[in-house]
This record gives sequence, structure tokens and C-alpha cells, in this order.
Amino acid sequence: MRKTIIAGNWKMYKTIKEAIELANGLKRELFKLDNQGIDVVLCPAFTALSEVSEVISESDIMLGAQDLYWQDEGAFTGEVSGKMLKDAGCSFVIIGHSERRQFFGETNETVNKKIKAALINALTPILCVGETLKEREAGKTLDVLKDHVQNGLREIGKEDVLKLVIAYEPVWAIGTGKTATPAQAQEAHKYIRDLLVKLYDQEVAAQVRIQYGGSVKPENIIELMQQPDLDGALVGGASLQVESFADIVKKAAEVIK
Ligand code: PGA
Repeated sequence: MRKTIIAGNWKMYKTIKEAIELANGLKRELFKLDNQGIDVVLCPAFTALSEVSEVISESDIMLGAQDLYWQDEGAFTGEVSGKMLKDAGCSFVIIGHSERRQFFGETNETVNKKIKAALINALTPILCVGETLKEREAGKTLDVLKDHVQNGLREIGKEDVLKLVIAYEPVWAIGTGKTATPAQAQEAHKYIRDLLVKLYDQEVAAQVRIQYGGSVKPENIIELMQQPDLDGALVGGASLQVESFADIVKKAAEVIK
């Protein structure tokens, strides 16, 4: 049985004050929820991590970062390490988001190093994978998923892979309002799960949670969550308001797997 996981990726939005307000609002809304069956993770910008950590400290809501560097410390101007994220209260970290792959030169190799660094620091990596529109139209979706998953997880053993979360995020669905249909999402998730059987074994494939991301909204979360291989969502735009994110969490919690 895989526990549903809904994460909010706040990207480069929210000042510290705004982040505190959003986290407080969510704490109020989600406290009323019987949260047993669902993990909720907030991923603010680095600047707001410790403040948000404080706000959610007495709730079940967990904290994640949006990236990390693979060294623990050193002369790496502008970077933030897993050790620092842990210190700021994080238990999750998004790795290899398509915006980092597109705009900041992230490769499977750097993703792999970051996953290893996250695991060493007891942070749960959320490994993002997914194809661009061009790749989908060229019929390469499954090849891209294989490349991202297989190379992202290079030299990562069974025990470690059991700890991580994978997020399937078709690039063409991110921030565009175009959600993958539940069938398209299910096909990709099933492919990733089958790949985990080949790379590891049945146990890994049955346990690793795979989130869907890309224009997730209160209006489409139920249909998506009804797909057998969708274990949650990584939400961007709709995670920036209390009402829409709380609604997504509540609706996801209604879908019993
Ligand atoms: P979106 O972003 O929900 O705004 O499409 C998802 C993501 O980038 O994680």
C-alpha cells in the first residue's frame, strides 16, 4: 500500500512574509483534515525554508526544498547543501525538475549526484522525469522516461531507491494549463513502474511512489488519483493559494486506493 503524497512546489514565488501566510493558512485548513492517509509536503524557496518549518512544526505537514548541491560544504558560491537543508527543517528535496534541466544545465549525471547527496543527508529525493512536447510528438516519451529514470538512479541500491519518490511531469503540461489525460499519465506511470521491476524487483516497483505533476488543479485531481499507478501530485501554480492547494489535498484524500 503506497501512501498518497501531495507536494506543493512554490518555485520562485513568495517573500518570507507571504510564505508564512500561505503556510499558516494551509496549517489551519489541513489541521481539520484527518491526515492519516496522506503525506503533504511544502517546497518554498530557500529563503523561506526555516520560517515555514517553524509554522508547520506542530502539524503533520512536511518541508521540502526545490534543489540542492551534492557537496556538504565548500567554496561553491550560490549553492545550498543537503546538510543545510536538513538544518533548515527539510525532509524532502525536489531533484531534476524540468525547469532546472531546461534553464540551469541539469543533466542525468548531476541529478544522480544530487540524489546520492540527498540520501546521505536523510532527505527524501523527489526525482522529476518527463518528456518535452517535441519528444512526445516524435514518439520518444518512453525512451526519455527510461533515460531519466535509469541514469538518474545509477548506482543507487534497492534500500535507497525504496526511500525515494518519482514525479512524472510531462514538460508540456507544466504551467501551461494542459494536463495530461488520466490515461496518458497512467501509461507513463505504469511504464516507470515496470521499469523499476527490470532495474530492481517487484518489491521496489510496488513500493516506490510516483507522483504526477503538470497543471494539477482541484478540478482534475480526482480523476488523476483514480488511476492505479498515480500515488500523488507535485503541484506548482495551484499550490500558491491556500484554497486551491487545500482543496487538492482534501480531494486526493477522498480517493481511497
Ligand atoms: P504546475 O507545475 O502545476 O504549475 O504545472 C508543476 C511543477 O512544475 O512541479
